[in-house]
Amino acid sequence: MSEQELRIDGATRIYGILGHPVRSSLSPAMHNAAFRALGINAAYVPFPVSPEHFPEVVRALLLAGVSGFNLTVPHKIAILPLLADITPEARAIGAVNTVRCENGSMAATNTDAEGFRLSLERDLAWQPAGKRVLLLGAGGAARAIAFSLLQAGLGELGIANRTPARAEALAADCRLAQAGAKGPAQPGTTVGALELGATAGWAPDLLVNATSVGMGDGKNPVELVGLKVREAVLDIVYTPAETPLLAEAARLGLARANGLGMLLYQGSLAFRFWTGQEAPLAVMRAALEGGLEARKG
Ligand code: ATR
Repeated sequence: MSEQELRIDGATRIYGILGHPVRSSLSPAMHNAAFRALGINAAYVPFPVSPEHFPEVVRALLLAGVSGFNLTVPHKIAILPLLADITPEARAIGAVNTVRCENGSMAATNTDAEGFRLSLERDLAWQPAGKRVLLLGAGGAARAIAFSLLQAGLGELGIANRTPARAEALAADCRLAQAGAKGPAQPGTTVGALELGATAGWAPDLLVNATSVGMGDGKNPVELVGLKVREAVLDIVYTPAETPLLAEAARLGLARANGLGMLLYQGSLAFRFWTGQEAPLAVMRAALEGGLEARKG
């Protein structure tokens, strides 16, 4: 695949990511590589936006003719009141990570849930139907993951978080979604919140870490050996590539994957939402890996 030079001219479409902080985002490298590979006249830039200026900046970007943007911490929920056109999936999740701008209006979706599903399928070859999952965390990423699992006909979902009230709120939203009140989710999954300290012996088929624990702090969010995980571990952290949790999973002989796949797949789905074209996955993966490598140097 021949990569073209980055060219900016009067017709260049601008995309970006709004975050606080946004400095360490790998999305610019991933999307710019994709635009270049497909010869699309577009560029993707980081926008560091503080929470107090967020609504103003979104309106200004729309007026300035920006073509679309991603949202990351802490803006995925703050965008909701500014949107009229939002997919049922993003509404059910209660968070948006991708916005397309057209003629002064915004269409919004959440590609994190489908990105997670694709990572489970392609990186772990793991099917959720009828299985038991323990999800650590109750933030934006955990919400998308919980809804993805509910759509896939999971048997049982346990949610554990440092702040137990947030785990209980997410479990309650999952049950509401299953009752049909808040959009798409299959009925039949038992959903409950549990104390982080009470997970020993819970024996999930899959453990998902959707907290930031393990991101350069050398820590494990939970002791795998006491938990008795049966099949696989997915850690959404990807720096370091092998977190302490994944190292323990390797010692226990479990299937495992870090968060690079979910990042890649959510990005590829955002790319399609914006351009209508299939994303060049190999190019995007190479850009992510290159970005991580550059950080080490
Ligand atoms: P994201 O959108 O990436 O999920 P978030 O909404 O800030 O980001 O959520 C971060 C998650 O990591 C939360 O579940 C958070 O727990 P709290 O709800 O108790 O804040 C969890 N988390 C962050 N730092 C943690 C730590 N040191 N120990 C345990 N959990 C932590």
